Amino acid sequence: SHHHFLLGNLFVFFQSHGDCMLFSLYYTVSETLSFTSLKISQIGSYSKKNVCFIMFLDELTLTTLSSEGHIPDENGSIGLWRIVVVKNLPYKDMRRAGKVPKLLAHRLFPSALYSIWLDSKLRLHADPMLIIEYFLWRKKAEYAISVHYDRTCVWEEVLQNKRLNKYNHTAIDEQFYFYQSDGLVKFNASGHDPVLPSYVPEGSFIVRAHTPMSNLFSCLWFNEVNRFTSRDQLSFAYTYLKLRRMNAGRNFQLNMFKDCERRAVAKLFHHRANGTTDPPPKNLRTDKNHSSMPS
Ligand SMILES: *[C@@H]1O[C@H](CO)[C@@H](O)[C@H](O)[C@H]1NC(C)=O
Ligand SMILES: *[C@@H]1O[C@H](CO)[C@@H](O)[C@H](O)[C@H]1NC(C)=O
Ligand SMILES: *[C@@H]1O[C@H](CO)[C@@H](O)[C@H](O)[C@H]1NC(C)=O
Ligand SMILES: *[C@@H]1O[C@H](CO)[C@@H](O)[C@H](O)[C@H]1NC(C)=O
Ligand SMILES: *[C@@H]1O[C@H](CO)[C@@H](O)[C@H](O)[C@H]1NC(C)=O
Repeated sequence: SHHHFLLGNLFVFFQSHGDCMLFSLYYTVSETLSFTSLKISQIGSYSKKNVCFIMFLDELTLTTLSSEGHIPDENGSIGLWRIVVVKNLPYKDMRRAGKVPKLLAHRLFPSALYSIWLDSKLRLHADPMLIIEYFLWRKKAEYAISVHYDRTCVWEEVLQNKRLNKYNHTAIDEQFYFYQSDGLVKFNASGHDPVLPSYVPEGSFIVRAHTPMSNLFSCLWFNEVNRFTSRDQLSFAYTYLKLRRMNAGRNFQLNMFKDCERRAVAKLFHHRANGTTDPPPKNLRTDKNHSSMPS
């Protein structure tokens, strides 16, 4: 039998020919498909005018939705959302399939300048432009992700994954031993060069500009998910170390913020529903050189 499974939302911000569009990727299926994850009232007039929302569903979920009265209109939309029915998913494991939109938004939407990933368990009631402004432009960052609220070391993350039986233990060990053999060491906050505030991210919320380094990091991260387990919190730190090793001279503007900041911001935005009325401030953009990937 088919289990409906909600993987998350992806907002992709496009800017081309002066027109901005925003896409939401509501990838595949859910137990409780909810259209309330972003209410029209919470979208500012700028986004409302320039933005387009897309929801990706599988056929069975579309059938379920329709039976619940959510029937696409003549233009294939349900409310704000343009419906795209996906077929031939690349993996049988839905958690792995979900990493495609999560990590490869820039490949799915090659002309998008920004994307926001929100896991299905999260409800960030906010205008996506506010999120991009807060986490990227204001911090001059190209990639924003929160640190894990509890764990800082991959060693702890491995133990926790096993404790909760999140994945085949043998497969986790294979991945973990490989990382150690390729230079991953324990997180040491008092070390001389703490490259990251934490080695474990909370991967449920990612905001990024589709810059060359951000795209490269995302591709490298996806490679780990494809090669080893789909538990992407295990591979984040290794991916970062690998990126640094491969691109010693290049800057990667990573904003690893505290998880409480995301929650505070979600609350703050909740009360500023229609706050975004202006186009993005040009001086705060990090996308000036939106060109090809570094070689
Ligand atoms: C479908 O699109 C057409 C052309 O943009 C528009 O005129 C029409 O109002 C749309 N229909 C609905 C139900 O939104
Ligand atoms: C667990 O992973 C190992 C190594 O990848 C594999 O050989 C084994 O078949 C897996 N076990 C199960 C039950 O999937
Ligand atoms: C962490 O780094 C400090 C400073 O380099 C060092 O003295 C300490 O032994 C390290 N701790 C661990 C557990 O590696
Ligand atoms: C937000 O919406 C409320 C009610 O719709 C309105 O009274 C208020 O002026 C709006 N604020 C802004 C900044 O647009
Ligand atoms: C963007 O690219 C141009 C030409 O390659 C270069 O001169 C400029 O310094 C770059 N700007 C930034 C902000 O990296």
